[in-house]
Amino acid sequence: MHSIYARVNNVSALLSTCTMCLLAAIALSSFLFTASPQGSLDIASVQVVPGNARRYRNKQQEFAFVNFNITADLTPLFNWNTKQLFLYVGAEYTNRQGAANDVVIWDKIIRRKEDANLTITGRNKYVFREHSSSFKKAPPAHYTLKYNLMPYVGALTYGEIARTTEPVPFPESREIS
Ligand SMILES: *[C@@H]1O[C@H](CO)[C@@H](O)[C@H](O)[C@H]1NC(C)=O
Ligand SMILES: *[C@@H]1O[C@H](CO)[C@@H](O)[C@H](O)[C@H]1NC(C)=O
Repeated sequence: MHSIYARVNNVSALLSTCTMCLLAAIALSSFLFTASPQGSLDIASVQVVPGNARRYRNKQQEFAFVNFNITADLTPLFNWNTKQLFLYVGAEYTNRQGAANDVVIWDKIIRRKEDANLTITGRNKYVFREHSSSFKKAPPAHYTLKYNLMPYVGALTYGEIARTTEPVPFPESREIS
């Protein structure tokens, strides 16, 4: 009795050790084979529009609308250990109070390699507003295209695909006619 129990125990210990090694190997190999993806981000236009004052405690709240173009070949990020890819466009700027902001204005989840070769003409999905209510004295912003890679096994990895070469100024606020 005792020896059968001990043998089963040994086998299961061996199996779980093997499983751990296999998972570690998958995580490590996919890390080693992750190629850096290529892409570009072009800001087509930025508009600043005065918003509805009442909703924001009677302060004049401005909103920014950013039109952008993305081309990116993210297929190198897809391997046997890629569960999904989270792609996002961020706006980085320092407001007039001196606070550094990194605002996600658009994102997309990609689950299949077939969907990872992208040409997108887009606009911010999320409200882009300045905490101080106005973009008036905010210096020009940089825009970035970044990803989070979610693997089946192992840790999340992050990367930057593209970044605007010149900072893009916020224009004067005006009503869209
Ligand atoms: C963005 O794409 C649109 C439509 O394809 C094109 O008309 C425009 O020139 C592009 N803008 C930039 C800055 O690449
Ligand atoms: C991605 O798309 C571009 C343009 O449509 C094409 O030239 C390129 O070969 C594609 N890459 C892959 C890996 O399919």
